[in-house]
Amino acid sequence: MAASVAISSKDVEAFLASCAASSEAAYGAAEAVLRRLQDPASRAEARRLLGAVRRHFADGQEDECARTFHFRIRDVLLDPHLQGSQQRKKLSVMEIPSIFISEDWRFAFYEGLNQLPDHVFRDKTVAELECGNGWISIALAEKWSPLKVYGLDIDPRVIKIAWINLYLNALDDNGLPIYDGEGKTLLDRVEFHESDLLAYCRDNKTELDCIVGCIPQILNPNPEAMSNIITEKSSVEFLYSLNNYYDLQSFAEDQFGLGLIARAVEEGIAIIKPMGIMIFNMGGRPGQSICERIFLRRGLRINKLWQTKIMQAIDTDISALVEIEKMCPHRFEFFMDLHGDQPVSARTALAYMKSGGHVSHAFYVYSCQLRQPNQVPSCCLLIYKSNSITKGIVLIQKIFR
Ligand SMILES: C[S@@+](CC[C@H](N)C(=O)[O-])C[C@H]1O[C@@H](n2cnc3c(N)ncnc32)[C@H](O)[C@@H]1O
Repeated sequence: MAASVAISSKDVEAFLASCAASSEAAYGAAEAVLRRLQDPASRAEARRLLGAVRRHFADGQEDECARTFHFRIRDVLLDPHLQGSQQRKKLSVMEIPSIFISEDWRFAFYEGLNQLPDHVFRDKTVAELECGNGWISIALAEKWSPLKVYGLDIDPRVIKIAWINLYLNALDDNGLPIYDGEGKTLLDRVEFHESDLLAYCRDNKTELDCIVGCIPQILNPNPEAMSNIITEKSSVEFLYSLNNYYDLQSFAEDQFGLGLIARAVEEGIAIIKPMGIMIFNMGGRPGQSICERIFLRRGLRINKLWQTKIMQAIDTDISALVEIEKMCPHRFEFFMDLHGDQPVSARTALAYMKSGGHVSHAFYVYSCQLRQPNQVPSCCLLIYKSNSITKGIVLIQKIFR
């Protein structure tokens, strides 16, 4: 084993200096640390460096680190409702500017996962779609000891940061592996891969017991932006937009912002084991019955695990939903602030937001399973190449009636 090398404040300062110029520079520095984490000879030292960097910005100074050095390492509490010593578990998580950090969504989804009995994940093979910085895959492995969790995301930067987060939590601040009761570390249980939805598992013929996903549910108001090829060199703004928006998927559900989730469900049906279970978050903007139809019309039975309300993210443009309302009788469902109990349309919500108000929407977590083993997916791919949104809406009205 390599001799332990102490990390000095000079090492920390050198790392920070290499991040200071820009978010590109910070990402480059993170990549260099990841290469050292991946090499068993330099792994412990690289992990000790990350520990020293995190301690350097302890006591709530993480935001200062983000402002000056374009990254931060912070604790994510796995049960934010518990106080002080009741709070048993937290993860250390690195974040960079292009990565999603909405607390509302992520915790509402994680709370939904927590409603499931242990056997759903224990010793199982799980895929997390759209894993972002990887914290849910890591939390899931910590809590339920699955055989393997594949954290998948289309953004190559996200995948590298997720690997860093895996090393951050699999090793302690001395760079030593943390073993669980079965003598395994998180590195034995979790892998991250670049993948368009389930492509990685499909290509590798991975047999999945469980698929979980927290998937964007608003069409990009600027469709041209989505024609950009997603690479590590893409702009921070474009990569960030992948957190909130998706591109037309040629599914009827596109009209409600649910096209990407519809594709995920279809891909899941095609590769999950017959008794497998899929768990998805649903932003309740289109209304509960439309959210549920996405599963029911594909022959799945559903169970609503969790329901709450969350604030509409202020960095997400909901004007695409207003355009849909102009062309069909459907009304989306928003609420004024968190406590409004009467739904208002997307048009009203947008006007309220423009005048400085905040709106919320329902948030559901559904689990779904095939009704019968070996069921083939009912085909519901609707290809409408025509630009006519009206044509699409006629189809939708038929399907969702
Ligand atoms: C809402 S965030 C997920 C956040 C993550 N689960 C968390 O709690 O931090 C959405 C993620 O989906 C990814 N994404 C967008 N389109 C995708 C696709 N077609 N396949 C895989 N990942 C995609 C984005 O890169 C982004 O990381």
